[in-house]
Amino acid sequence: MYQLIKLIKNLEDELQELIGPESISLRISNNPNYDYQINNLVKFQNHEKIKNIENSFYKIIDKESSIKKFEITDNYFINLEINIETFTHNFDKIRNNIKVQNPQTVLLDYGGPNIGKPLHVGHLRSLNIGRSLYRIYELAGHNVLSDIHMGDWGMPIAQIISYIDQNKIGIDDINIDSLEKIYPKASNLYLEDNEFKELAQANNKMLNENNSKIIKKWKKLREISIESIKDTLQVLNQQFDLWMGESDVNHLIPGMIKKLKDDGKISLDDGAYVSNFISEPKILITKSDGSYLYLTTDLATVLNRTKQNKVDKTLYIVDKRQKLHFEQLIKSIKYFEFSDKEYQHIAFGTVNDSNGNPYKTREGDAKKLIDLFEETSLKIKQINKDLDDDTNKLLANTVLTFSDLKTNRMTDYKFDLDKFTNISGKTGIYVQYALVRAKKLLNNASINTSALNLNIRDFDESDLKLTRELIKFEYFFNLALENNEPHHLADYLYELSNLFNSMYQNENILENENEIVKFNKLKITEYFIAYSSLLMECLGLEPVEEM
Ligand code: ARG
Repeated sequence: MYQLIKLIKNLEDELQELIGPESISLRISNNPNYDYQINNLVKFQNHEKIKNIENSFYKIIDKESSIKKFEITDNYFINLEINIETFTHNFDKIRNNIKVQNPQTVLLDYGGPNIGKPLHVGHLRSLNIGRSLYRIYELAGHNVLSDIHMGDWGMPIAQIISYIDQNKIGIDDINIDSLEKIYPKASNLYLEDNEFKELAQANNKMLNENNSKIIKKWKKLREISIESIKDTLQVLNQQFDLWMGESDVNHLIPGMIKKLKDDGKISLDDGAYVSNFISEPKILITKSDGSYLYLTTDLATVLNRTKQNKVDKTLYIVDKRQKLHFEQLIKSIKYFEFSDKEYQHIAFGTVNDSNGNPYKTREGDAKKLIDLFEETSLKIKQINKDLDDDTNKLLANTVLTFSDLKTNRMTDYKFDLDKFTNISGKTGIYVQYALVRAKKLLNNASINTSALNLNIRDFDESDLKLTRELIKFEYFFNLALENNEPHHLADYLYELSNLFNSMYQNENILENENEIVKFNKLKITEYFIAYSSLLMECLGLEPVEEM
């Protein structure tokens, strides 16, 4: 892309002179005869200097060797066809080309499971998007940290402990299955039974006072939960750098509240602390009974993180239904002057069933991720019973990841296993299969393709199409990085796989008598393998070797 960045810079400089500052953005062209499009001039079509601009743009683009053909349309869309000869040398350097100039430390807060609850379908998108962004930022050269940020403190824990005490259940008799059953019962009782509610409130107070008996029980519950969460994460091929949680910052809260009070940033309102930042609704910092809120803990977590790691940018990859919470959090971080760094809520929509309702089990609970994985694995086994277990597992993860990431993260989607495992659809199975085929082709060719060069003059239509698409890697990578949107890369991987399949199916490549044509195709296949593998890495997929 370096050549194109230079071109854009020249165009921007020209605009700066004629009109003023304007940042030009490249888009993928709507016109299949072209690669990229620049739309910036459209809004100036009635500007007095539009003819001057057009003329000077014309000259600048015309001089640019990386552009083969271009047009400026009547309403000032600019369409560009790149000159592939000036780009193909990039193919071998792609990992360097995607590095940013100024690497930062980026913290990704995702996963966010709670003690007492299994990882369920509600965690799927956070895990998938989080892992993908982790890889993308890392490939861009940033220093990345992930924190699973456990919900491991406060009222839900007090409710579980109260239930255990009330039913005289020994803490050592509890395992993950009983714990997962206790959790919903305890939270229902809390809503329905006043006596239970008081007990839980008393236990919550003791928890906050670090009462040793309660803490001992809490530790045990946390241990059981984490063990089960780790088991599921391992199956899903998910790792975290930090296993911090709400409990890690509880001790910071009293000091934080006191300082905010002293600084005049919060005021008492009916017993509750409210931020003095004017906003609608008001930003509540503590409840009227003095207890802490989700926001209180997240604010203390910000203080803790700024103390522990030098983080330039924090991304919270959390369901879009928590939009208000993160708006309040980010406003408060600035207003309380906790940090001048960047904080962003990376929101996403829900996974729904075929009726468009959030995906549940027959009993009405959120479906466990481990069960979803098992069902997917079984489905793949039904389709192809000859696959070995490792391949089956990799494909099950591919399905759960690709079907999720191909959807724009803000859009809800329906979970449809038949559709997601269709080998000829826009699926993880399809992209894996294309890569397996490509590798097999090179294996069977037994030629050292790294020694080959492309002879672009002898390209046929399918070679040209795939090569032109490969050149767009950097474009889509940057799009995904800048917008924190992995779906651009999932779409792109599918597109590349499609174009590879067309090239592959057009003829029997190895039988081709024209060596130049055959070597071209093998070389392009080598690039396809490299790019497809890199894209899978970006998305959190692991290539299978056999299918
Ligand atoms: N445990 C939370 C939940 O279940 C998600 C945590 C997200 N991260 C955060 N820093 N608030 O909704």
